[in-house]
Amino acid sequence: MKIETLAVHAGRRADPATGAVTPPIHLSTTFERAADGEYPLGFSYAREGNPNRAALEECLAALEGGKEALVFSSGLAVATAVLQGLEPGDHILAPDDVYYGLRKVIGEVFGKWGLETDYVDMTDLAAVRAAVRKNTRLIWVETPSNPLMKITDLEAIARIARSGNAISVCDGTFATPVLQRPLERGIDMVTHSTTKYIGGHSDLTGGVLINKYDNYLFERARNSQRFGGAAPSPFDCWLTLRGVATLPWRVRAQAENARRIAEFLRAHPAVEAVHYPGLADHPGYAVAARQMSAGGGMLSFQVRGGRQAAVAAAARVRVFTRATSLGGPHSFIEHRASIEGPQTRTPPNLLRMSVGLEHVEDLIGDLKQALAG
Ligand SMILES: Cc1ncc(COP(=O)(O)O)c(C=O)c1O
Repeated sequence: MKIETLAVHAGRRADPATGAVTPPIHLSTTFERAADGEYPLGFSYAREGNPNRAALEECLAALEGGKEALVFSSGLAVATAVLQGLEPGDHILAPDDVYYGLRKVIGEVFGKWGLETDYVDMTDLAAVRAAVRKNTRLIWVETPSNPLMKITDLEAIARIARSGNAISVCDGTFATPVLQRPLERGIDMVTHSTTKYIGGHSDLTGGVLINKYDNYLFERARNSQRFGGAAPSPFDCWLTLRGVATLPWRVRAQAENARRIAEFLRAHPAVEAVHYPGLADHPGYAVAARQMSAGGGMLSFQVRGGRQAAVAAAARVRVFTRATSLGGPHSFIEHRASIEGPQTRTPPNLLRMSVGLEHVEDLIGDLKQALAG
């Protein structure tokens, strides 16, 4: 089935007790045993499993073309669960421009775990090959990356991981399964922050890990979810599943709005650079054209005049909202270096945007007045 159909139907069936087409939210923390002591419906205790969580996992696995999915209470809870599966002394390769939150998890949560990490430019495949060691167990990629929208060649990374003894994981949050299919390119597991496009309405936090084949890191992440307890609530699972129904249509509309905005910004005299993988002059365009069906709804740009000019432009927006995060119906703009803190590698004059579902002419009009000063 096509993704639009899966987005509406996968993981859903009419409620057997009432016939309700929209699933109920199961708040019960515990489930009755049958007289023989078994749990005939498969649920015993809510930390280990819940009907809303099971439905969401079934849907997201189908959407990504995967075997199984595990949902967590946030995108970073997924990363934490994957890292918990590693042994002290294991080596990780991660992108030099990885989402700054993952860098914090590796450094501040796993600092005492004895993991070894190298951050490499994942667009430089020779550098990636050279960085692989005998003890490399995990190659983590993020494409498009945050906030410079760098594009990593997924097939090449999957080959490098397989030729070592490493498991490859792609954070596909920016692209969603609508625009990019990492498992079909040989990547072992995909993760998304479902807080973003998959939930789609800026009203929940969540994350998902999806595999193609059984592997030990996925099984250990399952233990972290069920026994470690980093599971999302039934209501968050319900909200996420509701959001998924419109995912393909939202993402395509957001990508089309973003493409139009990128073209507008590229021609604007107050703009120094635009980072959008759907533009032919983006360094990752050729790879993006191969592995993505559109450039996505995220872009960033650098304003002439440095940090102050960028912050001033963001201060003048009226339709865009100055906020972090992405993937919701509202267009967001943010001065990225401010949120990433003093260790940021992001250019000081960079503004990142998550393009929403407003009419593109209203968004371009807003940027025009904001950049005019
Ligand atoms: C690309 C990417 N991955 C992961 C995360 C983390 O997700 P969460 O905030 O749901 O923990 C984010 C959050 O912004 C992100 O942008």
